[in-house]
Amino acid sequence: MLSHLISIDDLPKEEILSLLALAARVEATPRRDLFRRLEGVILATLFFEPSTRTRLSFETAMARLGGRTVGFSEATASSTAKGESFSDTIRTVARYADVIALRHPLEGTARRAAEVSRKPIVNGGDGANQHPTQTLLDLYTLRKCFGRLEGLDIAIAGDLKYSRTVHSLLKALARFDGIKVRLISPKSLRLADGLAQGLRTEETESLAEGLRGADVLYMTRIQRERFPDPLEYEKVKNVYRLDAAMLKGMPDTFRVLHPLPRVSEIAPDVDETPYAAYFDQAENGVLMREAIFLKLLDPEFRDA
Ligand code: NCD
Repeated sequence: MLSHLISIDDLPKEEILSLLALAARVEATPRRDLFRRLEGVILATLFFEPSTRTRLSFETAMARLGGRTVGFSEATASSTAKGESFSDTIRTVARYADVIALRHPLEGTARRAAEVSRKPIVNGGDGANQHPTQTLLDLYTLRKCFGRLEGLDIAIAGDLKYSRTVHSLLKALARFDGIKVRLISPKSLRLADGLAQGLRTEETESLAEGLRGADVLYMTRIQRERFPDPLEYEKVKNVYRLDAAMLKGMPDTFRVLHPLPRVSEIAPDVDETPYAAYFDQAENGVLMREAIFLKLLDPEFRDA
């Protein structure tokens, strides 16, 4: 039984499969049949870092299930700005709301929150560490595109050093058989050792080369806010730019995913190609977050 959702490490494969199945069930269910399931439930969204998709899709998911949302989207708008400790903020909100979605720039904060919260904590991203709900929606999207996860050949490009979406995704992919991962990044943004454990990997700095033969490209933004030195960011900010011309001749089944937001790493002309799956991916985020809330809060689904 799921009590918090902090890291992919905490999710056994069966739990991942069960969440994927539940999201598919949500997708197949008419919306009017779900809109009272979590009536009266209150979600708190505590976002100490910017977000569009994650926060709004959590809120949309809760609204579709009949619940309500309270929260803040800027640390300066909460009493932490007055010097309140993080633990006290969490303890208090856990007495108001039934579930808390949290995003914070510091690694490990979601785990710390879970230690003091009497209500489920859902990690919406903690620093460069983990982003488990993004990973679940990424897996859902991959399975929808390809009908399977096993055996996929996945190119992952961009900021492999600081992207929490990549760190989370690799942990999840390692649970499935036969997956090959092509790690594409400049040297300074290479994946840290040990994070692709259990996966067959290849590394390259060339996007054009890394793409060939892959089933899917998972593109990421260079995570400017995590660079200790702004000059280092300037050196790599435009390192990759995928455009429609680079995708000429790719098989019809090829797909481009991106957790979004994009800056300049995917040219707008890619949006018009049949390969672009990133806005569908964002849409799937609502379904997956509905599934997560049902699993955490609805007795009928808790052990499903
Ligand atoms: C990602 C994040 O916040 O880690 N965005 C998201 O949640 N969809 C990726 C990013 O910010 O680059």
